Amino acid sequence: MNSAAEFPVATPNGAPLLEARHLRKAFASSGAAWENSHRRTQAVEDVSLTITRGETFGVVGESGCGKTTLARMLLRLIEPDSGEIRFAGENWLAAGCVSMRKIRRRMQIVFQDPMASLDPRMRVEGIVGEPLEIHEPQLSREERRARITETLEAVGLSADILHRYPHEFSGGQRQRIGIARALILRPDLVVADEPVSALDVSIGAQILELLERLQREFSLTLLLISHNLPVVAQLASRVAVMQAGRFVETGPTARVLRFPEHAYTRTLLAAVPRLPA
Ligand SMILES: Nc1ncnc2c1ncn2[C@@H]1O[C@H](COP(=O)(O)OP(=O)(O)OP(=O)(O)O)[C@@H](O)[C@H]1O
Ligand SMILES: [Mg+2]
Repeated sequence: MNSAAEFPVATPNGAPLLEARHLRKAFASSGAAWENSHRRTQAVEDVSLTITRGETFGVVGESGCGKTTLARMLLRLIEPDSGEIRFAGENWLAAGCVSMRKIRRRMQIVFQDPMASLDPRMRVEGIVGEPLEIHEPQLSREERRARITETLEAVGLSADILHRYPHEFSGGQRQRIGIARALILRPDLVVADEPVSALDVSIGAQILELLERLQREFSLTLLLISHNLPVVAQLASRVAVMQAGRFVETGPTARVLRFPEHAYTRTLLAAVPRLPA
């Protein structure tokens, strides 16, 4: 079933950047000692997706449905139990050390909690510049600093914060620093896993606007993950609705919002508060 013949799969516009077929991942459950210790949680169950270059693809679903596990497999931060992943046509799961390094720099992640994801002992210059030190060590100090400054400006921060520490910033500013770190290598794909759920609504809205602008400016392909349907709907051209490890519905965002096919999608829509007209 997981044959290479399933690739490539036709997508609405343009070339696929990321394709996954039949991804599965289970974890050993940490149940009570008297329970069957072989019980496993099927975090992701047979998920397939195709993300086209330059699009924003949204994944929405309630807490624990497997969104982060899926994202971590796509980035190869954890290995799937089974399934296939292609990145820019290459068999990503079979990539050896050298091509893994090359592919890895092309995909970056923005985390939910900017405080937890930024090293509190490092200054902004070190945090944002670290990926350059790893992947472009040939750059001179001046060149590196120029890249850092340029990227900070792209996310709406000024260069005079280079020597400050994460705790000196607000949540929204910290998330901008996290985004700058994700962008500095000019990746093709950015995975944003609940990028605004730790932020106040108005600050979150600014971060979403920023992601939308950066996606255009940097021609990014964006995988936007959230438990919040309006967040995903605001940016995504296509959306997958995830429930208990599976995609129960995938389609253009406008279609899924207006004509939801799956009962679970309708439940998510019904949960969205409406402003009085
Ligand atoms: N490392 C792990 N070890 C054991 N179980 C795990 C691990 N990671 C995830 N799980 C379990 O897998 C399931 C899916 O978790 P996951 O974090 O992917 O969900 P999620 O949709 O990202 O949730 P949230 O919205 O809360 O971030 C959950 O039941 C979770 O407890
Ligand atoms: Mg998660």
